[in-house]
Amino acid sequence: NFVLGGVGAIVNGAVFPVWGVLLTKCTVLFFQTYRGSDGMREEALKWSGAFIGLGAAFFLAITLQNHQFAIACERLTSRVRAMCFEAMLRQEIAWFDDEKHSSGSLTTRLATDSAAIRTMTAETVNVVLVNVSTLAIAFGIAFSQSWQMTLAFLGVFPLMGFGAFVQMQGMSGANAKNANDGDIKAGALLSEAINSIRTVASFCLEKTTNESYLAFLQLSSATDRKVGISAGIGFGVSQSCMFFAMAFLFWFGGWLLLRGDIDFERMFLVLNPIMCSSFGVGMAAQGMGDMAKAKKAVQSIFGIIDRIPPIDCSASTGTVLSAVKGEIELKHVAFAYPSRPDSKIYKNYSLTIHAGQTLALVGGSGSGKSTAINLIERFYDPAAGAVYLDGHDLRTLNVQSLRNHISIVSQEPVLFAGTIAENIATGKPGATQAEIEDAAKKANAHDFIMRFPDGYNTSVGDRGVQVSGGQKQRIAIARAIIRDPEVLLLDEATSALDTESERIVQESLDALLKQKRRTTVIVAHRLSTIRNADMIAVVNDGKVCELGTHDELVGIMNGLYANLVAQQVQM
Ligand SMILES: Nc1ncnc2c1ncn2[C@@H]1O[C@H](COP(=O)(O)OP(=O)(O)O)[C@@H](O)[C@H]1O
Ligand SMILES: [Mg+2]
Repeated sequence: NFVLGGVGAIVNGAVFPVWGVLLTKCTVLFFQTYRGSDGMREEALKWSGAFIGLGAAFFLAITLQNHQFAIACERLTSRVRAMCFEAMLRQEIAWFDDEKHSSGSLTTRLATDSAAIRTMTAETVNVVLVNVSTLAIAFGIAFSQSWQMTLAFLGVFPLMGFGAFVQMQGMSGANAKNANDGDIKAGALLSEAINSIRTVASFCLEKTTNESYLAFLQLSSATDRKVGISAGIGFGVSQSCMFFAMAFLFWFGGWLLLRGDIDFERMFLVLNPIMCSSFGVGMAAQGMGDMAKAKKAVQSIFGIIDRIPPIDCSASTGTVLSAVKGEIELKHVAFAYPSRPDSKIYKNYSLTIHAGQTLALVGGSGSGKSTAINLIERFYDPAAGAVYLDGHDLRTLNVQSLRNHISIVSQEPVLFAGTIAENIATGKPGATQAEIEDAAKKANAHDFIMRFPDGYNTSVGDRGVQVSGGQKQRIAIARAIIRDPEVLLLDEATSALDTESERIVQESLDALLKQKRRTTVIVAHRLSTIRNADMIAVVNDGKVCELGTHDELVGIMNGLYANLVAQQVQM
């Protein structure tokens, strides 16, 4: 497609100098009175026919060029988009903690930047091909007619080069830096507002949200305007330089004419093709105004595509564990979230969970319970110390293989748009209907699913808005256990539920834990849940302070756990 499009562009470029030649021929004809009126009419008809031919060639060339380039660029854009999306999904969790990588910014980037890349490739290839072909042919013709004039023209060429330089500067100058940051921020805001429309509505934030959106748009249009002004000035300078050069050439041509070095026809065969070509060059160059945006877009997109995440879930490297017992150990772990490096969550955190054991993590809000779970999933790497599974440092394991042995149910699980069956099957791609129903039964979800008219084919809506909290949680549990993981992580799985749903979900979880011994980490607040665990770890100030069974910990005088139990019993 690029080849055919290129042929179109070259023919398109050739049209302008040929136009100049034809124009000269027609003009000169009026002075060739020696041909007689019939002869002149014949000649005029001949050249008019040539104009029609030229028009047809122009039509065909432009059609071919645009059509073929459109196809090629469309393919290119889709590929860049696909690559970019793939690269985004590959990044580690910490990358997404960065505000610059919120869902809205990334969506906007994917849309606008790849569009800018398309414009850039199409425009650049077009402009380069059309200009090179136009100028080459124009100068070829000119040179064959009068080398003196062509040389003179080449003498003023730097002047025009300067014009073009000014133009390029205007387009890719200082404004390039934040050319589309406003767009991206606006996109991020939009996505955030729509995703949390209920919150926006209940706090009546419509007006303020809208105002922030407008502000971002204005930021974007202000930079656009600046780019527009400087690009306009540059374009003006480069075009006027063209006319100054023409003025000089007319004068020089007239001088050569007087001296008798060239005749009238030759002079115009130099001037007209170049003049018409400059018209073509100007037309092609006008599309280059968005170069600054495009340049930034390319940088930003390839910045994502080329980034190799420190925790790479697409890597094929690392040990792949076939049989996992489920022994987990955190040894002398120090950790701070990369987005907040100054607040140390763990200073010296050590914890062993034996295979098949159930461990309950207890501690105040913000004490780092979920953080332990994040580290076991290897969403983050510790700053010092290490996390082990069956004695292997997680950093030596293949990321996907590690995560395939772990299932997590969190406080607010997210379902994907689709049916209940599809959602449960995400836990184990290719699961059969029988496996899905079995998992649902274990999660105590089968009965309510069957009460839906569509059963397992009921749609859960965007992010699961069409099922209740308790139902959502049980679907998430079924999704977690369908793959029969060696390690199960339950992070406040029942905390977001009302008392009734909490009881039902808790019963499902208790039954689940009895069915099979597997390594389980539970974060919960209810004493009954915690009490049943094999081990209880009380976390405070970045480390494990108390570790033991319920009975052991209750025995510690004034212990953190003993106090906690006393509080709950009082209530
Ligand atoms: N993605 C994150 N980026 C920065 N800080 C975080 C992040 N997640 C949690 N934190 C902080 O880490 C601390 C521990 O959080 P967490 O482990 O979620 O506590 P909890 O024990 O309530 O589950 C909190 O102070 C929280 O503000
Ligand atoms: Mg938590």
